[in-house]
Amino acid sequence: MRLSELVSRYKVLGLREHEIILIASHLTGKSKEYLIAHPETECPDKILELLNRRLRGYPLQYILGKVEFYGRTFQVAEGVLIPRWETEGLVEIAIDIIKRKQIKLVADIGVGTGVIAITLALETGVTVLGTDVEDKPLKVTLENAKLHGVENRINLRLGEFLEPFKEWFEKIQMIVSNPPYVKRGTLLQSELYYEPEKALFGGEDGLDFYRGFFKRYDITGKVVLMEIGEDQGEELKKMTGGTVLKDIAGKDRYLLVEL
Ligand SMILES: C[S@@+](CC[C@H](N)C(=O)[O-])C[C@H]1O[C@@H](n2cnc3c(N)ncnc32)[C@H](O)[C@@H]1O
Repeated sequence: MRLSELVSRYKVLGLREHEIILIASHLTGKSKEYLIAHPETECPDKILELLNRRLRGYPLQYILGKVEFYGRTFQVAEGVLIPRWETEGLVEIAIDIIKRKQIKLVADIGVGTGVIAITLALETGVTVLGTDVEDKPLKVTLENAKLHGVENRINLRLGEFLEPFKEWFEKIQMIVSNPPYVKRGTLLQSELYYEPEKALFGGEDGLDFYRGFFKRYDITGKVVLMEIGEDQGEELKKMTGGTVLKDIAGKDRYLLVEL
């Protein structure tokens, strides 16, 4: 079917023209600039299935299999969290600390697509130890590390918190994480239902991960930087004695603990 026909049909149903063109570009292998200039391009029938899926709220990033983060393209797949803009802020703060303190070894708990670990490795030259409780994120992170040429500085292991790297713990200078922090039972926008539960939900009050981590590890001498929910700052300050930093929307978003 012609792209121009698809655009008029699916815009009426509620899809954005921009998304229709990106999906067509993904399927035809032609650039979006080419498609904008050539609306007569024929698209394979499979596009109808993808556009209908998108109409039902299936995330665009899963359809395209890629996502932009900190100016780079990363692979993403179902079963792995789609990175969010707030996490670019976490990376920005981490880069600043790494440079200031000349940190060489960082741990990233819950790597997901690997955007934090890989961006830190690329921007600062650090080595990163990454963990995740799920296999799929570790696979996607490895692919992304290879894509960006840092697989020799990203060491990945399956397991919770920093348990898989116990023998390295003393040497770790900084721990970063964007953990699951959504409260159980929170009503999510439809797209989030396609994302992995373990990446999103942090128990009754959303704080299970932080409680588990800070109880388990003595972080004296290390820097800990974690993303948090906008209403969790006060609780987490009390729990850790740390400070809370805001995101660009002015909301409490990052917990910084230096003991
Ligand atoms: C919110 S996602 C973050 C993914 C990625 N770092 C990002 O910022 O886009 C949280 C990730 O942590 C993993 N995870 C959850 N609990 C964990 C734990 N206790 N130890 C290690 N990984 C965990 C999940 O499987 C998921 O991949």
